[in-house]
Amino acid sequence: RMPPLAACYNLMDFEAVARQVMKKTAWAYYSSGADDEITMRENHAAFHKIWFRPRILVDVEHIDMSTTMLGTKCDIPFYVTATALGKLGHAEGEVVLTRAARRHNVVQMIPTLASCSFDEIVDAKEGDQVQWLQLYVNKDRAITKKIVEHAEKRGCKGLFITVDAPQLGRREKDMRSKFSDAGSDVQSGDGSVDRSQGAARAISSFIDPALSWKDIPWFKSITRMPIILKGVQRVEDVLRAVEAGVDGVVLSNHGGRQLETAPSGIEVLAEVMPALRERGWDKRIEVFVDGGVRRATDILKALCLGAKGVGIGRPFLYAMSAYGLEGVDRAMQLLKDEMEMNMRLIGATRVEDLNPSLLDTRALLAG
Ligand code: FNR
Repeated sequence: RMPPLAACYNLMDFEAVARQVMKKTAWAYYSSGADDEITMRENHAAFHKIWFRPRILVDVEHIDMSTTMLGTKCDIPFYVTATALGKLGHAEGEVVLTRAARRHNVVQMIPTLASCSFDEIVDAKEGDQVQWLQLYVNKDRAITKKIVEHAEKRGCKGLFITVDAPQLGRREKDMRSKFSDAGSDVQSGDGSVDRSQGAARAISSFIDPALSWKDIPWFKSITRMPIILKGVQRVEDVLRAVEAGVDGVVLSNHGGRQLETAPSGIEVLAEVMPALRERGWDKRIEVFVDGGVRRATDILKALCLGAKGVGIGRPFLYAMSAYGLEGVDRAMQLLKDEMEMNMRLIGATRVEDLNPSLLDTRALLAG
């Protein structure tokens, strides 16, 4: 019934298998987006409004797709972004992603709401493998401070503060499936959760909706990790983030799970980079994008526009849920193979060669 792993030729293939084999509640939690899922679909579709302007007769025998993100060297410019509740998809949870990331020298962002404990996920890393922490800020700042200090002590190299979720979006598929099982070992703020609202809402009641720009100096005072705002959705806020002295932003709408009809990260990126360059600020902050990245051509488009790297969420969850470690391993290898080929085909041998002149963004900018 289940196709062999070798029959998965791209990241969408994993999704199709996962849909067949996953438990209904787990599938509902991973796959759902907010409301009518318009933003979720657009995240992927927006990439198709960008076309390449490939260069020919470039010597592309040797391709080097390695890069740095927040000072960390990695093999390829994507990272495993934070996604909650890994054990819904696989009995071992997030450590499966840790092991796959190790094999490919890819960075992993650890979610606050992981199914495994934070320490289990850190213990699963090997050697100089790099991890970042995704932070949901607790109403009780003493708890948040403890989490941040512990993460720094355990070697995390970046603090990604999620800023697009003062309240969890309504993911109706998830709500309908009446979450009951594998998330129950996740520690939530006060333990008194209303399960009728679905997995997401059941575990997120501790998140502080009062979080604001005024809190940024405090975060800077409690950690030396780079601070990155995850979920920035407009140019003005990127500029404000530079002024606030943060080290990076992730242009993201949370995989279309929060504000319905929020813009896709790649569209915001096309506006953000010119505004940063105009001010000479593009070296003051690292810009990341996530949402709907499924192909190396998507990664290339984001990098040509000026992103340092892209986050990928659901595809690795689906690969893990369907095939475990080997599935995630293959998903990452497929992206590497696609990336190498497509860099050759657009006439770029190194990440530094990627620039806006390799793109035709007219259709994107026209809407
Ligand atoms: C997420 N995302 C997320 N983000 C975050 O900051 N904290 C979290 O706990 C989660 N949890 C989570 C669970 C699941 C199941 C998904 C699909 C997503 C958002 C995630 O980091 C990222 O923004 C999107 O997943 C990117 O979109 P794609 O790659 O899934 O299309």
